[in-house]
Amino acid sequence: MPPPDNIAISVHDLHKSFGTVHVLKGITMDVEEGTNAVVMGGSGSGKSVLIKSIVQLLKPDRGEVWINGVRVDTLEDDELDRVRLSIGYVFQGGALFDSMSVYDNLDFILYRHTSMRAKEREPVVMEALEWVRLPEHAHKYPAELSGGQKKRVGLARAIILQPAVMFYDEPTTGLDPVSVRTVSELIARLRDDRDISSVVITHDLLCAEIVADDVFFLDGGRFVASGTLDEVRKSPIPEVGNFYRQSR
Ligand SMILES: Nc1ncnc2c1ncn2[C@@H]1O[C@H](COP(=O)(O)OP(=O)(O)OP(=O)(O)O)[C@@H](O)[C@H]1O
Ligand SMILES: [Mg+2]
Repeated sequence: MPPPDNIAISVHDLHKSFGTVHVLKGITMDVEEGTNAVVMGGSGSGKSVLIKSIVQLLKPDRGEVWINGVRVDTLEDDELDRVRLSIGYVFQGGALFDSMSVYDNLDFILYRHTSMRAKEREPVVMEALEWVRLPEHAHKYPAELSGGQKKRVGLARAIILQPAVMFYDEPTTGLDPVSVRTVSELIARLRDDRDISSVVITHDLLCAEIVADDVFFLDGGRFVASGTLDEVRKSPIPEVGNFYRQSR
């Protein structure tokens, strides 16, 4: 059944195994339009597998995934490619092309997926770089950037096709607190200024505090707690309590 109109991302009873390892054992979540859902959980709990199963980089074994009213887990490849253009994805680890300048990393996406000419692409690339406050770094290479700057380029690249929904896998891992705040505030602004709905995987409490509308805590293949960040932090479930004690 399609979710209600105000639900941008809907996952119903999602399962995913690798061989005999049952990683996701029935995940159900709704992300309302214009909100950020944060997924937290220990290392190896299946957070990246969940996000990849939603965007169909991995095929779920069972369940339903709806993005903007379209059921995506049953789409053929060519239809999926079209839907993917409205989905922004920031990978764990960044995944910039190291042999291309910052400018070309962004320009390449427009070149590949639109019929815009180089002259038309330029203001779009520069607008995205201005948005993450890095226009002066356009002609640098990824190796010349700090960790936080690379994450911001990854963000600019993910929004360049004006996606309606975004998926972030650990967007602030390895950053100092100032950069964590900068990147997290950009994620919150994408929701507030552009009405983008998103799923954000993070270990980072500061990031969760800045971006989260709803929090889902993954453990043992299921969400064992959900609600506001405060509600989840106060969960009586021992695994949840241990996680937040360790990340303080
Ligand atoms: N392509 C794959 N093939 C086989 N097993 C996989 C594959 N991808 C993930 N797994 C397994 O699924 C489990 C969950 O992995 P996942 O990457 O989702 O963890 P995570 O919660 O994102 O952890 P981290 O916080 O360290 O990034 C792990 O046991 C992992 O080994
Ligand atoms: Mg991961």
